[in-house]
Amino acid sequence: MSPVRFCLIGAGRAGLVHAENVARRIPDACLAALCDANPEALNTAADRYGVEKRYADFSDVMADPDIDAVIIVTPTFLHCRIACAAAESGKHVFLEKPMAITVEECEAINQAVAKADVRLQLGFMRRFDKGFQRVKEVIASGELGAVMTVKSIGRGPGLPPPWIYDLKKSNGILAEVNSHDFDTVRWLAGDEAARVFAQAGNFKCADARDGFPDFYDNAIVSLKFARGALGTVDGTCPCHYGYDARVEALCERGLLQAGTVKDGSFFQAQVNDVKVTGEGTVLGSTVKSWRNVFKDAYLDEMEHFIACVREGKTPAATGKDGLEAVRLVAAANKSILTGDPIAIDRSDS
Ligand SMILES: NC(=O)c1ccc[n+]([C@@H]2O[C@H](COP(=O)([O-])OP(=O)(O)OC[C@H]3O[C@@H](n4cnc5c(N)ncnc54)[C@H](O)[C@@H]3O)[C@@H](O)[C@H]2O)c1
Repeated sequence: MSPVRFCLIGAGRAGLVHAENVARRIPDACLAALCDANPEALNTAADRYGVEKRYADFSDVMADPDIDAVIIVTPTFLHCRIACAAAESGKHVFLEKPMAITVEECEAINQAVAKADVRLQLGFMRRFDKGFQRVKEVIASGELGAVMTVKSIGRGPGLPPPWIYDLKKSNGILAEVNSHDFDTVRWLAGDEAARVFAQAGNFKCADARDGFPDFYDNAIVSLKFARGALGTVDGTCPCHYGYDARVEALCERGLLQAGTVKDGSFFQAQVNDVKVTGEGTVLGSTVKSWRNVFKDAYLDEMEHFIACVREGKTPAATGKDGLEAVRLVAAANKSILTGDPIAIDRSDS
């Protein structure tokens, strides 16, 4: 069977993680073309992976009959246009989170995908991490009883790029950093959120204060699910100590946790990475990047997507999952601005 032929659209920070997996780590895939509006990013990535076909304009990718699937990793405000064009051209779509800027855009993508009968998978890689999957499996087994609360932490190390300062253009860090957390809380609760309340503050990004007084770099969101479970999303960017993605699910008869603030696997940490001081303090290095801690999850999510393309199956992270995360981010931002809890309205779906 010939490999699935991909074009990566957007060869930036996250795009290069997918390029590495498709070009070098997955035998059943081929990085057949690259597309980036920035010639330097395009040529650097294409030279690194020996890719001949190079596109500056994503419309040209859609006209290429040799491309089976696209991986869309451009800035979020372009996701809807590119994903709809890809589906309309009969190409399968792997789409990074956040799915789009608005719920309406997400609906347009889902309609285009359904009409073309192509596969769509969202880049919620935590669903493919072994630790997060184990939490989901134990909850699903029922051995610890029902989920009462799910707490998800998502902290990103880098300074937000200035375009994130304008919440109307970006939806802020709750979208760019914490889309994963909204998805995780909803996934583990196994339910849809009915009400959201959020509070936020700008502690570190002083340069954003004058031009964008609504911008926040820390946020805490509280969620109530339809069948009663509670959730929190705890977001920070920039986070001075590194990248931090953790979740805790408190069930009726037990506590489940996944994610770590400490770099390395548990075994490595025991052997190489932990110092215990005379006072009993445990020291070690922290996780520095999502690239390291979720390295295998990024690979596994792409292998899963390829299997879904081959077998015509629905992927584990769907357009509905992407839409619901965007819906919850919008509600949280509205709550921050108004100071009120927001009841989630799904009359549109
Ligand atoms: N799943 C994850 O863990 C994860 C991590 C980081 C980023 N992301 C998401 O990936 C997306 C990209 O983020 P990033 O940090 O890689 O951004 P980035 O700025 O590093 O890269 C974006 C790339 O898209 C290119 N681009 C811009 N306009 C384009 C166009 N019209 N056509 C083709 N290419 C274009 C840029 O030149 C750049 O190379 C965002 O939606 C972000 O939220 C996901």
